[in-house]
Amino acid sequence: MKITDKDITMIATDKIEKKNKLIADWDALLRTFVRPENEKAKATLIKYMEQILFELQDFLKAHVGITEEISLPELCLHFTDTKISKDPEKKLTTAINDIVKNLAPYAVNIASPYFIGHMTSAIPFFMVHLKTIVTALNQNVNKLETSKVASIVEKQVLAKIHRLIYNNSDSFYNTHVQNPYTTLGAFVEGGTSANFTALWVARNLCFAAKDGFKGVEAEGLAAAYAAYNINRSVILVSRRGHFSLKKAAGFLGIGNQNIIAVDVDNKQQINFTKLQEQIKKYTKDNHTKILAVVGIAGTTETGTVDPLKKIAGICKENNIYFHVDAAWGGPTLMSEKYKYLLDGIELADSVTIDGHKQFYMPIGCGMVYFKDPDSMEAVAYHSNYVNRPGSVDLGIKSIAGSREANSLVLDSSLKIMGTKGYALLIDHGIETAALFANEIKNRPCFELITPPKLNILTYRICPDHYKNQLRQADPTEKWQITKRLNAINRTVQRIQREAGFSFVSRTRLIPDIESKIELVVLRSVIMNPMTDLDILKEILDEQEKIYHDRFSEIDNNIF
Ligand SMILES: Cc1ncc(COP(=O)(O)O)c(C=O)c1O
Repeated sequence: MKITDKDITMIATDKIEKKNKLIADWDALLRTFVRPENEKAKATLIKYMEQILFELQDFLKAHVGITEEISLPELCLHFTDTKISKDPEKKLTTAINDIVKNLAPYAVNIASPYFIGHMTSAIPFFMVHLKTIVTALNQNVNKLETSKVASIVEKQVLAKIHRLIYNNSDSFYNTHVQNPYTTLGAFVEGGTSANFTALWVARNLCFAAKDGFKGVEAEGLAAAYAAYNINRSVILVSRRGHFSLKKAAGFLGIGNQNIIAVDVDNKQQINFTKLQEQIKKYTKDNHTKILAVVGIAGTTETGTVDPLKKIAGICKENNIYFHVDAAWGGPTLMSEKYKYLLDGIELADSVTIDGHKQFYMPIGCGMVYFKDPDSMEAVAYHSNYVNRPGSVDLGIKSIAGSREANSLVLDSSLKIMGTKGYALLIDHGIETAALFANEIKNRPCFELITPPKLNILTYRICPDHYKNQLRQADPTEKWQITKRLNAINRTVQRIQREAGFSFVSRTRLIPDIESKIELVVLRSVIMNPMTDLDILKEILDEQEKIYHDRFSEIDNNIF
């Protein structure tokens, strides 16, 4: 294993600190809890903050992906120490220095405009400041006694986003914005917990108390099924549904195999006819209850938006709970130009939106919203020492107990950016993705697989000679060619990622439903405002080069 310059610096600092042995004593301990006692100490702390704010960002310039410079197994060898030392090992300055100089370079440069593979990207620089304030205040919004104004701000922010989705009347928001008895939504850790919370509420509303039955939350699913005279409940969602829905079904006792994956059409939207058929099938079955239908506003893999209005209509007709997973696409509502893409979202019983996706907040912040301000009563918990009925304790209706005041970040960010500022980001993503799609279509080496509706698209390397072959091939030959193309795309994606200059992710899709052939596709998510068409062209150039260097000679022998 190579020892790098960084390892040498790390070893040298460790040696110095071991020589000037650090000890844990009461005075030193107390110093870590108090504000800097003099100007010199203050200046030192400011220097640390400068290091965090600026030097930490410098590593971002070097590499984008997980590079071969140090392999994962090699990296793991540096982290095998499983004992906590009795005496202090490092001063704060060394601890910060270690992260900035020795760890950060091996982290992933998600902020690079060449990193277009995932829903995690650059965030506005001011987010670091806002998040620092949250840590400095360290309010716990579980209960008013440890948060006061932070809980009040949270209710206000929740009402603002609720209004963005549902656009109810002034009098509705005046009634509910600070009403301790009603709840417009909740801040959670991310999209997973938001979906979880929504389905928790849906389950409890579906199996509410009746005729001597105290409700599913109290008595559990076995008793609920007995009370409702059924033996199964299901949740319907398109094949493109996020796997967090399965997790939620498992956790809520519904069973993850009761998440019914409804086929998609060639646009990757839920196939509405198939959805109608499934609803008919399960409503006819006296022993099964449909707990919810989930529509997606921005699927993880293709960015597709389901026909929300139509789904809302069929749910209303059949009295089924309708949840929209808008973890990704929700903030599109701030764009005057593109909010129409989410038409029908206002009809949902609940909506998931992630803060750490297109609200560009630091990880982790998700939110869930409810059309009916009383819905969350179905998951309310009280205790004697906090969370008493009628209090503003936000822990009454949340999976989490103690929770940070993330709403302070979103509140300020909405004020700093305005919906217009956010709309610039959303519009840029959607429009750049459209330009990228055109560029892909115009290049003989590539094939666009799913055109973007929002700012996510998939494509693959499929040089013209392959396209010609595919046009003439019978099903068996088609399958053989696809296998080869799948291997090519897997390899090119891996080589590009390991080279560390740019990053595009990959997934598997069946774009042509009739053919049932699964393709390996490259997936890109355009959310970084610094990503432009020139950068995207460079990324394609690199992929083309990798293909030519590695495969074109072999391919020439095949064709
Ligand atoms: C549509 C959708 N829903 C839910 C989630 C889960 O969100 P999180 O990773 O914040 O838990 C994701 C994440 O990619 C998503 O794309």
